[in-house]
Amino acid sequence: MNKADNILRKIEKRAHNEFLPILGPEKGHALAEEIRKAKPKRVLEVGTLIGYSVILMGKELDKNAQIITIEIHAEEAKTAEKNIRKAEIPPKVEVIAGDAIQVIPKLKGVFDFAFIDAEKTEYLDYLRLAEGKLRKGTVIVADNAGIFAKQMANYLDYVRTSGKYSSKYVQVGVDGLEITVKL
Ligand SMILES: C[S@@+](CC[C@H](N)C(=O)[O-])C[C@H]1O[C@@H](n2cnc3c(N)ncnc32)[C@H](O)[C@@H]1O
Repeated sequence: MNKADNILRKIEKRAHNEFLPILGPEKGHALAEEIRKAKPKRVLEVGTLIGYSVILMGKELDKNAQIITIEIHAEEAKTAEKNIRKAEIPPKVEVIAGDAIQVIPKLKGVFDFAFIDAEKTEYLDYLRLAEGKLRKGTVIVADNAGIFAKQMANYLDYVRTSGKYSSKYVQVGVDGLEITVKL
């Protein structure tokens, strides 16, 4: 087993024991598939926790790619940095400790992939703040579009009906991902 897979298995065990809300292997498989298809150069993640989904995406990318991930809790952000270092994934990863609502407007440059997995009622805010930095064709994956569809209703409505995106719901087990492409 390589280092990234080894760390992912360890985080899965810890998540199981401590009820940590990581993406998990099933939805993780679907996210990794989207990353392999899109081969992004610059990824924005909102909601790092302890680094599971960053490592999962990063192991599919090469060293020319970059991931910027935002986590509101400083302690989790520190643990994520440690896990990411140990996983030895190829891309450069920057973990930013802070509230995505404050951080996203300050980010420089453009992104071509986004993974949103933080406070469900804020998904639309994250997207609206990042929108101007997302290239045409950017794939945006939003977690929990099944079990938290009500909390994410304004987000789901926006990506499905604003005319700015093409969007579909993909069921994975008991939950699902909203997979959106910027037009
Ligand atoms: C479901 S967990 C993320 C799981 C992670 N993506 C994974 O698969 O391992 C959600 C995370 O979002 C963080 N969060 C919540 N609101 C946030 C905000 N406004 N800005 C940044 N992070 C936030 C929480 O602290 C939590 O760690």
